[in-house]
Amino acid sequence: MCGIVGCILNARNTVDVAMSMLCRVEYRGYDSAGVATLGEDGIILQKKAGAIAKLNEVLNKNILGNVSIAHTRWATHGKATDNNAHPFVSNSGQWALVHNGIIENYLGLKTKYLPEKCTLNSETDTEIVVQMLDYVKGKNNIEKLKNVCDKLKGSYAFACVNVNAPNTIFLAKNKSPLYIMNATDGCFIASDPICFAGKSGKVYSLENYEYAVVSDNDILFFDNNMQVIVKNETNIKIVSNEKELNNCPHYMLKEIEEEGKVLDNILSTYTEGNVLRQFGSSMFSRFKEIVFIGCGTAYHAGLYGADIFRLNNHIRTSCYMASEYRYCSPIVDDKTLVVLVSQSGETADTIAVCDMVHDMGATTIALTNVLYSTLAKKVDYILPVCAGSEIAVASTKAYIAQLSVLYIWSMSLLGDAELKNALADIANLTKDFDNYKYNELKSIAKKVSKINCCYFLGRGMDYITALEGSLKLKEVTYINCQAYPAGELKHGHLALIDDTSYLFAIATDDSTLDKTLNGAYEAKARGGKIIVLTNKEIKTKEFYRVIKLCDYNKYLMPIVVSKWIQMLAYVVSITKGYNPDKPRNLAKSVTVE
Ligand code: M6R
Repeated sequence: MCGIVGCILNARNTVDVAMSMLCRVEYRGYDSAGVATLGEDGIILQKKAGAIAKLNEVLNKNILGNVSIAHTRWATHGKATDNNAHPFVSNSGQWALVHNGIIENYLGLKTKYLPEKCTLNSETDTEIVVQMLDYVKGKNNIEKLKNVCDKLKGSYAFACVNVNAPNTIFLAKNKSPLYIMNATDGCFIASDPICFAGKSGKVYSLENYEYAVVSDNDILFFDNNMQVIVKNETNIKIVSNEKELNNCPHYMLKEIEEEGKVLDNILSTYTEGNVLRQFGSSMFSRFKEIVFIGCGTAYHAGLYGADIFRLNNHIRTSCYMASEYRYCSPIVDDKTLVVLVSQSGETADTIAVCDMVHDMGATTIALTNVLYSTLAKKVDYILPVCAGSEIAVASTKAYIAQLSVLYIWSMSLLGDAELKNALADIANLTKDFDNYKYNELKSIAKKVSKINCCYFLGRGMDYITALEGSLKLKEVTYINCQAYPAGELKHGHLALIDDTSYLFAIATDDSTLDKTLNGAYEAKARGGKIIVLTNKEIKTKEFYRVIKLCDYNKYLMPIVVSKWIQMLAYVVSITKGYNPDKPRNLAKSVTVE
């Protein structure tokens, strides 16, 4: 949440460069955007509520200065207004600062560390930090920044400039990611190294409680005792064209359409790379339980993981939302294997669980799409998701990829032949993947775009697909969607159903098919319109629609059905005139608790 970037260049047109870098982290929040440029006459500030495009409408790109820092915001404290937009400039005009994270103790800091005459001009938790820089003591600027950071509780990646330090950006980090590139034409800083795409140079990642003084041709790193430290380059592969839309109207559509290619990537990684060698049966013999952890869509992938390892491999499993697990006093020891599922590898709660279970002796695996992420650096093992960068806030191709990797992994534990078959299944799926039954999908999307609420039913793995389908549809269409296990309907939820209700019944598993359809009939009897998503021949005129999707085994059907619902959500979103890539109130990476 919130993206920060900065650049120091020999040239003086840094506004343009910083703003184009900023676009690459807009997925981290789009409530406001701003840029501060250190020019000959001091700090020039330009900021505006709304997405970066809003700022661009009024931006003066001709402002000259060798240094700019910029910010795109996901609001935590204070509304999305011009005033609350970053960067913030201290009342003396000496300092400008951008922040990613949350300062948890911000309320107490003003009375403790600022004189009464110092006014705060925003409702944010960040502004206090820049004001404190005006008053804190320190031998030099980086020491002042450290002395302020010592008084803070929470998470932060700070980038700041001072009018008396031309060509310099000061950095501090705790929990929120921060990267630096030392390039031939200057230095760049960013929350995500994807901002360095198209540039070449050495990339460094700042660790917690480290500081840096970045100038146009040099970077000095400091530890928490202000001792200069030598840091090694971080090995990061940045694919520069991945973030382009390439004539596709939206990232969400582009990413759904890339799912076939993603499965090909998974096939080549997991066939050629022998990645699963270290995750075989001998590893599992060391553990009593596998716990899957995730948030949102990644949690749903975790539920799938827990189900398939229990059903297919008879391993004791469980799955929790990271935000709940942290506070449920879990029983964890060295016999626990914790699989942390996270597309970004930057989700704060998931990272916190990783730290917690490590301290309790567990072994950890990250199932992640970003191999240089904070989570990836903390775990014992990494299972790559191979989805390529996912920009749209709604996770689509990463979910399909997470399920596919879990499927291959689970099948691999049964033996080489089973692994070979699993890989062949995925290869076939790739071929069938674009068969959405478009005409039916569009006509259903037209209906759904006019309703205010909708329900998803399923049992077993179909219930997991119902949960994910419901999240996807609500996220990009703002329709109130709920998922229920089909057998639970009559325990209260059925009271909601009337003749305005639409229900998607997901029925792909032979062992629960009739039971799921019973739930659907019960809802139909109360006026509900039932759309069945299935791989079976269901020859009845009882339902509003039956969509027969391609037929795969019960562990692969969640992939087939999820893809169809992703496309439905996309079409409904654009039918309603929304931007599916930037749903209101959300951000792609949830880097705060
Ligand atoms: O990066 P992560 O996989 O850890 O993100 C977890 C969730 O924030 C994410 O899946 C979210 O639920 C998506 N917006 C859902 O489409």
